[in-house]
Amino acid sequence: MNLIFIRQRDNYVTEVLNIMNKIRKIKVTLKSRPTFEGAGVRLKRAFGYADSSLDPFLLLDDFHSDDPRDYIAGFPWHPHRGIETITYMLHGNVEHGDSLGNGGVIEAGDIQWMTAGSGIIHQEMPKKNNKDTLLWGFQLWANLPASHKMMDPRYRDIKESQIPEISLDDNKVKVKIISGILNGVKGPVQDIITDPEYLDVTISPNSEFIHPIGEGYNVFAYVIEGEAYFDDNKEELVRKETLVIYRDGDVVKINTDKEKVRFLLVSGKPLKERVAWRGPIVMNTDEELRIAFEEYQNGTFIKYQKEVIA
Ligand code: FE2
Repeated sequence: MNLIFIRQRDNYVTEVLNIMNKIRKIKVTLKSRPTFEGAGVRLKRAFGYADSSLDPFLLLDDFHSDDPRDYIAGFPWHPHRGIETITYMLHGNVEHGDSLGNGGVIEAGDIQWMTAGSGIIHQEMPKKNNKDTLLWGFQLWANLPASHKMMDPRYRDIKESQIPEISLDDNKVKVKIISGILNGVKGPVQDIITDPEYLDVTISPNSEFIHPIGEGYNVFAYVIEGEAYFDDNKEELVRKETLVIYRDGDVVKINTDKEKVRFLLVSGKPLKERVAWRGPIVMNTDEELRIAFEEYQNGTFIKYQKEVIA
């Protein structure tokens, strides 16, 4: 410790931080890529592959357009099994309905956390508003462990008013807590197997956000707007529509310069299981995939018929 005390103050602070916490370094930054999905929705995919440093997360799509031709075709009836889909709307509305009889509209600021489990057939249809055509939202897919792939499906519809927002560091940092806990404030989505943390973070210019991440947990950030340095190397100002994948460590440290930044920060406990993935169904083996598609064809896909309303 003596060595630390003879350093300059700035170095001292950094040094103490480094000793107390291992700051996660950026593994890679990736621009999201234009993709067509559903019945012809034009979106940007931040990731959509099994990277071990993203496990348990499988996919992140960014829908962002003010041209209804880009999204109005929507995602008509389709199945899911073995995963959770988490839809977060920033602007516009998405109407949904499912094989269990649930239905409703996900509005700006709302979250829909859908656990497909053993199987659900649903549709997700963006609605057109002639006065305000902007549609902006995200869909994240989280994998389920083998032990829960065939659990009963469930929906959690969370309204914007249920999502707590906390201010840190004299209002320089604002965090909406969708899932997880920050400064003793718990997000509304709880009891999820992979223990995910899902935060929507805004940092003012010339400010800093340091946040602990569970040991061994994987974490990524996805920049919505503005720019920031996402680790203490400060080599790259990361800008909108860019994914930041982190290496292991204890905390993430994000610094802004002249601009503010807004980003999603998502972490979870890796499953470290084999992934067998085809389209909307993600299982552990090819045989489980074959059975799932066979059941979908012959009408025995849905295992849980009772109405489930969160
Ligand atoms: Fe879906």
